[in-house]
Amino acid sequence: MTKLATHLRYMQFYAHNAHNMCQGDTFFADHEELGELYGVYTGLYDSVVERMIGLGQAIDLVKVQVEAAKMLDEDAAPTAFSAAFAGLLTCEQELCKLIAEADKTASLGTQDLLQAMCNDAEMRQYKLQKRLSKSASSESATSEKETEEAEDKKEEDKEATDKSKTGKFTLLTAKR
Ligand SMILES: [Fe+2]
Repeated sequence: MTKLATHLRYMQFYAHNAHNMCQGDTFFADHEELGELYGVYTGLYDSVVERMIGLGQAIDLVKVQVEAAKMLDEDAAPTAFSAAFAGLLTCEQELCKLIAEADKTASLGTQDLLQAMCNDAEMRQYKLQKRLSKSASSESATSEKETEEAEDKKEEDKEATDKSKTGKFTLLTAKR
């Protein structure tokens, strides 16, 4: 359960960083969603820690915070929302793995708590996947548009060159 608490603290840090750092066209919606998520992870962390204390399990909270902070690398303050949501999706999948591990030795009541957490985590994974596929399709639409625009420009340039060639030819013929 300590591993689980550490991971949840890390998720909270990650989502809070993304909430603060994310930029782009969808800033307002992303900022709000990421703000909600770090609140969710704070609540889950609190539930796990309080359950452990309630069950008389030893937990070194200072060590948990230090370990969670150590997990933060340079990718843990994403500025692109696609990176932020992809990072969170991986975190959510890892969360379910840690829950499955903790569930094996947990009391019935704690299993109930953990399984509810996993249920919610799976729903969030679905939403994150939807969000990522939506952004991927809009990105490919943008690059398609850019390719079309580049082709149009090439065509325009070619027409302009052809016209100037014809112009020169007319001029040359006129001189004769
Ligand atoms: Fe905020």
